[in-house]
Amino acid sequence: MKLDIKRAYNFNAGPSALPLSVLEKAQQELIDFRGTGMSIMELSHRSAAYEEVHNQAIARLKDLMGISEDYEVLFLQGGASLQFSMIPMNFLGEGKKAGYVMTGSWSEKAFAEAKLFGEVAQAASSKEGKYRRIPRLAEIQYQGDEAYLHLTSNNTIYGTQWKEFPATGNVPLIADMSSDILSKHVDVSKFSMIYAGAQKNLGPSGVTVVIVRKEFLEKANSNIPTMLKYSTHAKNNSLYNTPPTFGIYMLGEVLGWVQEIGGLEEVVRRNEEKAKVIYDAIDHSNGFYIGHAENDSRSLMNITFNLKSEELEKAFLAQAKQEGFIGVNGHRSIGGCRASTYNAVPYESCKAFSEFMEQFQKQNG
Ligand SMILES: Cc1ncc(COP(=O)(O)O)c(C=O)c1O
Repeated sequence: MKLDIKRAYNFNAGPSALPLSVLEKAQQELIDFRGTGMSIMELSHRSAAYEEVHNQAIARLKDLMGISEDYEVLFLQGGASLQFSMIPMNFLGEGKKAGYVMTGSWSEKAFAEAKLFGEVAQAASSKEGKYRRIPRLAEIQYQGDEAYLHLTSNNTIYGTQWKEFPATGNVPLIADMSSDILSKHVDVSKFSMIYAGAQKNLGPSGVTVVIVRKEFLEKANSNIPTMLKYSTHAKNNSLYNTPPTFGIYMLGEVLGWVQEIGGLEEVVRRNEEKAKVIYDAIDHSNGFYIGHAENDSRSLMNITFNLKSEELEKAFLAQAKQEGFIGVNGHRSIGGCRASTYNAVPYESCKAFSEFMEQFQKQNG
């Protein structure tokens, strides 16, 4: 059954756009999931039908990201925000220290949580320049005996993204990839742990993906609550307690969609094309639109910009809303404008938005 409704130009920062074909399939399967006579939400998480969905989602992520057998893929709850606490709970503690690279509000939140558990230091920060850039690799300072080094691979609020990751040798590298996981090729083997809330590139909210090296898990503290130990979930294939079954099903279907369209290579091609059409509108505007991020730190996922005055910005956002562009307000903490162009946002939305930007400039420039 085809949906005969108009889909919005959805630039929400998260939860955000999902592929239409996935929504349609979920709709089709909603009442009777693959002959069970129940919806996926009504199945036992211990049933064979659910287990197949669960394991397929893990297998698809491993396939798409090239995750080796050295890693566990976990589906947790509590959002990426709980990871800010679980990471230091599991890996920090007395006599241990960790480094944090500060590139925006999410790094600050992760840093603040870690402080509650052990000694933490800022390995680099671009706060002074209003987080317009990712620190250069040479700026990152740490001693070499840290329990881990943490970074945020894409800064959803400021619109910056790491292009190259540090080689940290013996220091385990952990990345919050909430807003750019599966948007480009990443060498997972450089990381001891990657985590991401699903609600931007992977599916609906409610599932947090954790990819963690088995060897790293062995170093984790044991004197913490059962549910907050990674090892609990690793030992039980993320089925220690009831997982968010519907969210995991949707995540698996989104991954299936990525495979169908041609895998990461096609995702990368699309994402570059989508971001370019909007960045071009900024760059060709003779300063009418002012990009927030420095050019070499620009995010392909969250495009942030301002207009010359607050008044003009207000008018721009009001007109954008009127014309059906959803979610283009900047984050409430910094204002301005932001177009989030995650994997499932179609090129047509980005093209339409860039045309709107050009038109608004003509009328107001
Ligand atoms: C980079 C990043 N980290 C963490 C979070 C927090 O995620 P959650 O809402 O899943 O806790 C977000 C949310 O937007 C984010 O963009």
